[in-house]
This record gives sequence, structure tokens and C-alpha cells, in this order.
Amino acid sequence: MIEAPTAAGTQSAAPPVWNAADVRRDFPILHHVDRPVAYLDNAATSQKPDAVIAATTRYYKSANANIHRGVYRLSVEATDAFEAARTKVAAFIGAPDRDELIFTGGCTESINLVAMTWGLENLRKGERIILTQMEHHSNIVPWQLLAQRTGAVIEVVPISAAGELDIGAYQQLLTQKAALVAVTHISNVLGTINPIAVMSKMAHEHGAKILVDGAQSVPHMPVDVKQLGCDFFAFAGHKMCGPTGIGGLWAPRGILEAMPPYQGGGDMISTVEFAGSTWNKIPHKFEAGTPNIAGAIGLGAAVDYLSHLDMRQVAHIEAQLLAYAEKQLQTIPGLRFVGAAADKASVISFTLDGIHPHDIGTILDQEHVAIRTGHHCCQPLMDFYHIPATARASLAFYNTPADIDALVNGLRRVIEVFA
Ligand code: ALA
Repeated sequence: MIEAPTAAGTQSAAPPVWNAADVRRDFPILHHVDRPVAYLDNAATSQKPDAVIAATTRYYKSANANIHRGVYRLSVEATDAFEAARTKVAAFIGAPDRDELIFTGGCTESINLVAMTWGLENLRKGERIILTQMEHHSNIVPWQLLAQRTGAVIEVVPISAAGELDIGAYQQLLTQKAALVAVTHISNVLGTINPIAVMSKMAHEHGAKILVDGAQSVPHMPVDVKQLGCDFFAFAGHKMCGPTGIGGLWAPRGILEAMPPYQGGGDMISTVEFAGSTWNKIPHKFEAGTPNIAGAIGLGAAVDYLSHLDMRQVAHIEAQLLAYAEKQLQTIPGLRFVGAAADKASVISFTLDGIHPHDIGTILDQEHVAIRTGHHCCQPLMDFYHIPATARASLAFYNTPADIDALVNGLRRVIEVFA
């Protein structure tokens, strides 16, 4: 078990030193004796450390009760654990106020929440929603649904062949009735890290709000919503060592207080009469019904775990792994990288000449290497590159050079099979 050198949400002057071999012991699935695997599908979901599994189990075994409702001890304990998790998660993304952190079912729900509350309330016919060519379907389709209802129009920021946003084109689009920008922080296909702080400033200069999809950034680098300067920040728990079915939405208090509720039900109200109801204060206004209590507590434990590792060190280790992987993969004949941004996270998409990505994935699986193949919920991006799919290896801090060697050897096997 890695020892905790810092408290959750804080960082020491120098990041602690550890390596992947040490942290791997914290992840039971990575030393599963019957089924060892080089797990390289971290952009889809991360593995879970013992601390997260234990926190979730502990809640069910010794503190299971509903929250915000009971006066009895168990309910108070469950409420305290749930709200403590909110405080940790809010601090982890640099939120100035813990009440600004809404627990949702995940990043997708966070984006839908904004579309169907802030969006329906604020978007007018003819106003522009600016997306980018590299968005995940979860940051496209909610805005299409909103556009259908409001008459707003979707515009798309183009990208270069390397997979970088055309900031000049973005500037142009902002001048034309822009109301909202919705952009991914890190592309789940290309690994491109977008210049969010600059984009937020530009959006605000034109009176537009900006939503950032942080699903791929929070697990891999230090994130501070204040520095990003965005208006909405959405992220998922399961990609950052937490459980599935839990995620977060951050927005400043003023915006959240002005937004109408998302779903109606218990806990989100202040008073209910048949003539009408009034709403609870934030964050509860957006958390109708019994939430994913175990999930939130598990996410709090994940944040503790990542804070102890220090996200600066996580980013550093992953950058080293990325450099090693790119170097090794260059030795594979017929391999073409998809995405070559100057500022890039540990996601590597590629194609192999004459071999469908699904065949690559299937043969790699026989070699005990897990990668994702397909369009990665980014069909417009595939269209841009005129390809149906890519193979994608996505790294986490617990991966090792040996995992990458297994991938490279597996790819040599793929080529042999198709020779
Ligand atoms: N968005 C996740 C991925 O890229 C599921 O794999």
C-alpha cells in the first residue's frame, strides 16, 4: 500500500516519488492470478484500488442507511460520509465552494443536466452552441436535443490533421451569436489536451458560457476549475479509480442557483403543496431521490487515493509511459498514429495497414492485452479522418513498460496472423 504523504485535496511542494510497480499492489485485478492482463483501456474505465472497494463495502456493511432523512445514528453516519465525499471531490477539482459540486450518475448525466436546465432556460432560436470536431457523443447529442427544442444552431470548431483545435476558427465562430461552448478537456481518441483557460477567456469576451467535459482529464492531471475559468465542468467517477454510476458537475454558485431543477422528487424540494413546490438549496436542488450513496463514498476514497499519489506525479509517470509507448510503437510496420498534438495525454489511437481495428483487438485479447477498438463514441471524428475505427491504447499510472512491451509484441503477432 502506498503511504499517504499529503492530505486529500492538498499537494506538497515536491510530489512524492513512487513507481507503478509499487501502486500495482493496491489494485487486486492487476494481480488476478488466473487472468493476468496488460490493461490498456483506461480511457474507457480505470481499475479500482483496494481502498475504493473497501470504502464501498464498508458503507454497505456498517453504515447503510438513507441520507438527509434519518435522525438515527446510522443515517447520520451515512449522511456524514456522503457529504464528506462531496467536500473531498470538490477540493480535488479546485472548486471554491463544496456546495457547487453536484453528484450525478456520471459525466454524461452532468452534461444532460446542463442542457436540460441551463440550456432550456437560456438558449434562444438562432443562438449558437459551439462544439468541436473531437467531441464524444455525450458532448454532442445532448446539445442536439437542446437545439431541436430551442431552435439553437450547432457549430463545430474544426481540427488540424494532428488533432489540434483551430483556434482562429473558434474565434470566428464566437463572433456569431455564440451562447455556449461545449468542449472536451482531453480527447478520448486523440489524447489532445485543449487550451481550456484560453478558450474560456475567449468565450467570456463574447458573452458565451463554456462547459468542459473533464472525463479524460481529472484522472490524469491536476485540475483546477478556477484556473480553467469555465462555467460548467463535468466528470466521471469510474475513470478516476472510483465506482461506476457516480460523477460530478461543478458550476459557480450564482449559475447553479439561477438554474431550474433537473429532476423532481424527494430531497430536491424545500416545500411541496399541490399548488406548487419550492426548491432546496444547492447542491440538493439537483439531487432528486436517493443518490448513489455508496458510489459517492467510493469516489471520495478514490480522490483520497489519487491525492496521496499526487496528480502531478500521476501526470509525470504517464508522460514517461506515453513517450516509451510512442517510441516502441514506431517500430511496428504499417502502424499509423491518429492524433499527434503537441500537448497530448496518455491516449494512443492507431491503425494498422490492411487490418481492421476489431481484428487487432481480438488477437491482442488472445495475447492478454486489453485495448479498445471502434469509433470510441466519436463518429464525427472518425468521419474527419475518413476511417471507421481505430485501435486505442490508453494508459494509467499503474501501467508499466512491460504492459507496453506486451502490446508491441501482440501487434507483431497480429501482423504475423494477417501476413
Ligand atoms: N468514453 C469512454 C471511452 O472513450 C467510454 O472509451
